[in-house]
Amino acid sequence: SAEDKLDYVKSKIGEYANFPKEGILFRDIFGALTDPQACVYLRDLLVDHIRESAPDAEIIVGLDSRGFLFNLLIATELGLGCAPIRKKGKLAGEVVSVEYKLEYGSDTFEMQKSAIRPGQKVVVVDDLLATGGSLVAATELIRKVGGVVVESLVVMELVGLEGRKRLDGKVHSLIKY
Ligand code: PRP
Ligand code: ADE
Repeated sequence: SAEDKLDYVKSKIGEYANFPKEGILFRDIFGALTDPQACVYLRDLLVDHIRESAPDAEIIVGLDSRGFLFNLLIATELGLGCAPIRKKGKLAGEVVSVEYKLEYGSDTFEMQKSAIRPGQKVVVVDDLLATGGSLVAATELIRKVGGVVVESLVVMELVGLEGRKRLDGKVHSLIKY
């Protein structure tokens, strides 16, 4: 069942105290991805959620860098394309930019103007929701290039950091801490 798959994935996620900074409990998705069964379960759980909640999705956008583990994986399963949002200076051609803060620093995200067609329905995916800074910035970028976010999806959510509030509750997470 979905619950068994979730429990299995959860059991494989790593946790590291005081990384990358003092006071941060780092939730390490890579601990799960070395396990072949966890990879398949993660794919199934993410794809099943999109099939139910965003059947009209047209493209899957992943956030640099751990979101890239999932955007192509999901896109191929759903018969869609995918696109990246990257940290500044990495994307060619015309881009839009937005600065944002995260749990342990700040950065700038960029997206290629050519990545999204006007009005295209976008699902955004990432490994983890912390303060929500990354997903808020991503949503703004997608709007700037003319897309419409129909679903935001993360594997893990750090509930205490209240990122969900900044997204007006419009985010789905598989695992909550
Ligand atoms: C992490 C994580 C999310 C973001 C969540 O990425 O993968 O993208 O932080 O934090 P927020 O909700 O407070 O914005 P990070 O910027 O560390 O980059 P990485 O994926 O390249 O490791
Ligand atoms: N990104 C932001 N906060 C994080 C955390 N606690 N663990 C893993 N990735 C993160």
